[in-house]
Formats: sequence, C-alpha cells, structure tokens
Amino acid sequence: MFAVVMAMAHMAMGAEAQNTTMAPNSNATMSNVTMAPNVTMTPNVTTAPVTALTVNISMAECKKSQLCAAKPPDCDPAVAGSCFFVSIKKSLGQIFFFQLRGVSSGYIAVGLSKTSTQGQNDTTYVCANSNRKVKFFTALLDKGVLTINNKLHVESVNGSVNNQIIQCTFSATVPNATDTRSIDTSFYLSISNGTFNSVTDTLGSPQAILNSDKAVDLADPNTTVLNSLNSAPSAFCLSQALLILIGVLGMMLL
Ligand SMILES: *[C@@H]1O[C@H](CO)[C@@H](O)[C@H](O)[C@H]1NC(C)=O
Ligand SMILES: *[C@@H]1O[C@H](CO)[C@@H](O)[C@H](O)[C@H]1NC(C)=O
Ligand SMILES: *[C@@H]1O[C@H](CO)[C@@H](O)[C@H](O)[C@H]1NC(C)=O
Ligand SMILES: *[C@@H]1O[C@H](CO)[C@@H](O)[C@H](O)[C@H]1NC(C)=O
Ligand SMILES: *[C@@H]1O[C@H](CO)[C@@H](O)[C@H](O)[C@H]1NC(C)=O
Ligand SMILES: *[C@@H]1O[C@H](CO)[C@@H](O)[C@H](O)[C@H]1NC(C)=O
Ligand SMILES: *[C@@H]1O[C@H](CO)[C@@H](O)[C@H](O)[C@H]1NC(C)=O
Ligand SMILES: *[C@@H]1O[C@H](CO)[C@@H](O)[C@H](O)[C@H]1NC(C)=O
Ligand SMILES: *[C@@H]1O[C@H](CO)[C@@H](O)[C@H](O)[C@H]1NC(C)=O
Ligand SMILES: *[C@@H]1O[C@H](CO)[C@@H](O)[C@H](O)[C@H]1NC(C)=O
Ligand SMILES: *[C@@H]1O[C@H](CO)[C@@H](O)[C@H](O)[C@H]1NC(C)=O
Repeated sequence: MFAVVMAMAHMAMGAEAQNTTMAPNSNATMSNVTMAPNVTMTPNVTTAPVTALTVNISMAECKKSQLCAAKPPDCDPAVAGSCFFVSIKKSLGQIFFFQLRGVSSGYIAVGLSKTSTQGQNDTTYVCANSNRKVKFFTALLDKGVLTINNKLHVESVNGSVNNQIIQCTFSATVPNATDTRSIDTSFYLSISNGTFNSVTDTLGSPQAILNSDKAVDLADPNTTVLNSLNSAPSAFCLSQALLILIGVLGMMLL
C-alpha cells in the first residue's frame, strides 16, 4: 500500500517535473535547451517523411489512368537523359497521385495555378536533392519567389536521386480542387527547377521548364498538355536560317 502511494507520488512528481522543465520561467534550463547544437543546426522546417523510390517513373499509364505532361513532349521518364515529366491521377475527392521526374542539381517542382498568370501564390510541390536524398516541400509561388510553407496536405512521399535525375511520387490533397465540376479540377500546370541550399533549406528562384497552354482538367487522363514555352522549334529555325545565310555568304565570297 505504502509502495503504491509512493509510486503514485513519484509519477505525479515526474509529470510535474516534466512540465516544469518545459515552463518558460525556468530560464536556466530553457536557454541551455535552445542552445543545444542539435536544435539550432537542424533546419527549422518540418518536412514530409520520404521513403526511397525503388522503381523508375513510367509513362505506361499515360492517357489511360493518368494525365501526363513532359518536356520534350512524350519523352520517356524511365530512361536516362533530360526528360521532365509529371503525371497526375485522380484518387478520392481532392486527393491526386503525382509522379514527378526531372533534371536538376537542386530541386524540381510541379505547380498548379488557377490563372494563366502563374506565380500568384500558386500551389507548388517541390522535390529537392538534399545530399542525394529527396527532401519534399510544399510551397507557394508568388512573383517568381518560392516560399516553403509545408502546409499543404501530402502523404506517401517516395523519392530518389540519381546524379541530377530527381524522381518523386506523392499523394496530395490539392487545395480548391473540389470534384463537383471539371472547371474545379482544372489548373494551369507547370514544371520548374532551381537551385537548393540543403544547409538552410532555401530554394533558388524557379526556372520554368513547362507551362501548360491552358487550364487542364487533372481528373481527365485524356487531356493533352501543350507546353506554351516550346520555343525550341523557332530557335532551331533561327539557327538553321543563320547557318544557311552564312553558307550563302561564304559561297558568294568564293
Ligand atoms: C503538462 O502541460 C500540458 C500542456 O500545458 C498539459 O496538457 C498537461 O496536463 C500537463 N501535465 C501535468 C501532469 O500537469
Ligand atoms: C531569468 O534570467 C534573468 C536574467 O538572467 C533573471 O533576471 C531572471 O530573474 C531569471 N528568471 C527566472 C525565473 O529565473
Ligand atoms: C549550460 O550548459 C553548460 C554546459 O553544457 C554549462 O556550463 C552551463 O553552466 C549551463 N548554463 C546554465 C545557465 O545552466
Ligand atoms: C539530438 O539530441 C537528442 C537528445 O537531446 C539525441 O538523442 C540525438 O541523438 C541528437 N541527435 C543528433 C543528430 O545529434
Ligand atoms: C528559419 O528560421 C530563421 C530564423 O528564425 C528564419 O529567418 C528563416 O526564415 C526560417 N526558415 C524557414 C524556411 O522558415
Ligand atoms: C514507397 O514507400 C513505401 C513505404 O513508405 C514502400 O512500401 C513502397 O514500396 C515505395 N514505393 C516504391 C515504388 O518504391
Ligand atoms: C532507372 O533509370 C536509370 C537511367 O536513368 C537506369 O540507370 C536504372 O537502371 C533504372 N532503374 C530501374 C530500377 O529500372
Ligand atoms: C534546370 O534544367 C535546365 C534544363 O535541363 C538545366 O539547364 C539547368 O541546369 C537546370 N537547373 C539546375 C539548377 O540544375
Ligand atoms: C500571396 O500571399 C501573401 C501572404 O499570404 C500575400 O501577402 C500576397 O499578397 C499574396 N499574393 C497574391 C498575388 O495573392
Ligand atoms: C482557394 O480559393 C480561395 C478563395 O477562392 C483563395 O483565397 C485561395 O487563395 C485559393 N487557394 C489556392 C491554393 O489556390
Ligand atoms: C481519349 O481520346 C481519344 C481520341 O483523342 C478517344 O478516341 C478516346 O475515346 C478518349 N478516351 C476517353 C477515355 O475519353
């Protein structure tokens, strides 16, 4: 009986002691807790846990169960090389399953915008190379600046980093994507990349790789996403024209 009372008293004291050490009025302990290198050296961002991705993202389900977008168009994300790829598959309600693959020394990101003017606090999902492991962030893109907020709901993040090839998959509850009408699940889609400082957890300004030419319905696998940034053909034509011009000039000189 005595032992039980003692044990209970001890437990109560233990609990009290625990709350006392947490209390701000004990400033000696507090200052030493916050000064611990362990605490100050960890970047102050809580990120979703990331499990290793053991396979390469594939385009097999494109136009069947998932919407796909890529640069260059229709490039295969499963083989080596510069292919930026995103696939989106509707799950339940506002939950969508994303697969993102791209090339970057820092991070790759997929953005969803309600307006054609991208970068007005657009929902952005970021997969960064943090010492050859994927670190996952949610962020808002406002006026060309990505601000990590980690407030968007995301689950089941898998990721891999292979040299500069970053791949990640995740399930996200997309804000404002209520599934009543297709207009509600339609977004301007973008892929971007940029630099990442893994010590401070800061993202460099994003370089746009793909911007969809129109709002695309994320719930419709059959949607074809055209890249409004496809300036490659005209640049090619220009350089070709230049070559021909130089050739003609050369021949005239002969
Ligand atoms: C300790 O503090 C927390 C939060 O202030 C409170 O919920 C909890 O009941 C306290 N525990 C004890 C044993 O006082
Ligand atoms: C906290 O530290 C300050 C300055 O060191 C001291 O003046 C104050 O009395 C301390 N407060 C408590 C609750 O120990
Ligand atoms: C904080 O910890 C250091 C050693 O870890 C110790 O020397 C110092 O006295 C402590 N400071 C306080 C206010 O307890
Ligand atoms: C951080 O501190 C906790 C206890 O304060 C310790 O268990 C843990 O190993 C430390 N982690 C690192 C990386 O030092
Ligand atoms: C981390 O904390 C520092 C100082 O408290 C702050 O300046 C910085 O913006 C924070 N970083 C993030 C990503 O929240
Ligand atoms: C993703 O991570 C989970 C564990 O969280 C694991 O069971 C699963 O096999 C991983 N998926 C792939 C494709 O690697
Ligand atoms: C994934 O693709 C890379 C080329 O980017 C290749 O080297 C690797 O073997 C592939 N891994 C799997 C599991 O197929
Ligand atoms: C982003 O992608 C482009 C095109 O592949 C590449 O030139 C650039 O170096 C990449 N950015 C980073 C930070 O790796
Ligand atoms: C983006 O959000 C920030 C902070 O919530 C706000 O100050 C800013 O005006 C917003 N920008 C736009 C374009 O809505
Ligand atoms: C969702 O819609 C509300 C109201 O229309 C708007 O204020 C908010 O910025 C939107 N959120 C996102 C992430 O687009
Ligand atoms: C997808 O589009 C093709 C032609 O663009 C059409 O034949 C096919 O029926 C469509 N599939 C669905 C599921 O809408």
